[in-house]
Amino acid sequence: MHLVKLGGSVITDKSKKRTIRENILKRLVDEIARSEKKVVLIHGAGSFGHILAKEGGLANGFQGEWQLEYFSKVQRDVRELNLHVLDALLDAGLRPVSLPPSMLTIYSNGVMEEMSKELFELYLEIGMTPVSFGDVVLDKERVFAICSGDHIMSALSSMKGLESAIFVTDVDGVYDRPPGDEGAKLLSEIFPDSDIASKMLNRDVTGGIKEKIRRGFMIAEKGAKVMIVNGLVPGRLEKALKGEEVPGTELRWKKDD
Ligand code: IPE
Repeated sequence: MHLVKLGGSVITDKSKKRTIRENILKRLVDEIARSEKKVVLIHGAGSFGHILAKEGGLANGFQGEWQLEYFSKVQRDVRELNLHVLDALLDAGLRPVSLPPSMLTIYSNGVMEEMSKELFELYLEIGMTPVSFGDVVLDKERVFAICSGDHIMSALSSMKGLESAIFVTDVDGVYDRPPGDEGAKLLSEIFPDSDIASKMLNRDVTGGIKEKIRRGFMIAEKGAKVMIVNGLVPGRLEKALKGEEVPGTELRWKKDD
């Protein structure tokens, strides 16, 4: 089976509140269906989550009662996006089932307590496509926390029969220097001890890609193939799922595996 995370920046327009990129979502879901692989699908929140979550300061935990309205609204909005994803999957002939993180896990001081993999495994076994997504969840100390889709990916990395984990983003992968710089080269693989990985894991890059890399290596350590691929380019996700070569960056745990 395969874990696929559709980044919020791919399936939504991140600059406009609650805006879906319908055609891209439809194409990516069609690629999943055509691959005929067993997939657990995770999606990010994009403009259905980040804008209001930031306004409500949700990432920093409880500061005041006023934030609870933001908690409700962001939960509501990411569910709306989730319904769109479920519809796209149904249209593609798959049988999705939604598993919201806020019902599967609880956080404690920003750290996820164990997420049950059993539901995901059982739904897959009967031929359905489990779908989960970035959400706001309860935190025992901080009242609430943001549970990112990347976090769910690593939380599910011990699922039975995991072959690959694919992070679908709006860039080709990891570059040896900022992608805008002249001569920047796409790295086909990176290792936790490589210069670029340590640079990425330090603070000078945006939280998004750093978190993906950190989580990605956690999954690679368990033995699955971990890839970052560009979802804006048609065909790449389907090929990656089929195990074919595609431009992208593989996150590898060790040089000799
Ligand atoms: C964020 O999830 C969840 C909320 C803001 C509620 P992700 O971190 O997985 O979303 P993207 O992929 O960055 O949009």
